[in-house]
Amino acid sequence: MTTTVDDKQTSKEFFNEWMGAKGPKGWVGRYISNTGRWYTDMLIREGHIKPEDKIIDVGCGSATTIVNLLKSVSLDEPIQAVEPSEEQLKLAKKNIGEAGFSDKIVLKQGFASPLDFKDNTFDLVYASFIIKHFADDSVADFFEEAHRVLKPGGRFLCWEFATVTSKIFKKLASNPKKAMQNFRSFEQIGKFLVAAGFKDIEEFKVQNRGFWDPVVDAGARATK
Ligand SMILES: C[S@@+](CC[C@H](N)C(=O)[O-])C[C@H]1O[C@@H](n2cnc3c(N)ncnc32)[C@H](O)[C@@H]1O
Repeated sequence: MTTTVDDKQTSKEFFNEWMGAKGPKGWVGRYISNTGRWYTDMLIREGHIKPEDKIIDVGCGSATTIVNLLKSVSLDEPIQAVEPSEEQLKLAKKNIGEAGFSDKIVLKQGFASPLDFKDNTFDLVYASFIIKHFADDSVADFFEEAHRVLKPGGRFLCWEFATVTSKIFKKLASNPKKAMQNFRSFEQIGKFLVAAGFKDIEEFKVQNRGFWDPVVDAGARATK
């Protein structure tokens, strides 16, 4: 297994700098980071979430999607959440605490690979908007790890920017020194899933976000 240290560190530092910034840059960053709530319905629907599911959110950011998940669905086991950036972890801790879910979400600092969990642990591995920050090696490593920690029959769910059409957004989003922006189509994501050993690989349509219209997302679901 090859591990790309550079994109891990670059991305972590990028989020630390952005989320921790004072002034408008930080306000915008923290606002965007807290928009995960828009995706909760999609997570429930596409992840086929059931109360008995053991779930991990990889690269949870401010944890808003899973906080909102717990407002809609009662789970038997705490959700595990992994996030490398200290600044994102601070936001996540605050959001989780304010929602009263400190005993229902276990936050850990860490990267998508390696995942510090035993083989066959989870029913659902969920990752939203993280793989654009990964070079190909890191996507391969993460998907192998996702496959390893899933129980047989467990589900993997991820979505990410596939293409951007706006010139301004393209420019903003394609600075390799900052966050390793690698946009991939469902077909490209699917190849990594096949290589990691997943089956039943399916695309789903990511819901429209209104002001993010210049960005087209790819959603992928697969089974171990
Ligand atoms: C755009 S945010 C998305 C956060 C959240 N998943 C959501 O959908 O709202 C991307 C997150 O991925 C995290 N990240 C970047 N590189 C990572 C890595 N190698 N492993 C795990 N998470 C990573 C970042 O720190 C950041 O919090």
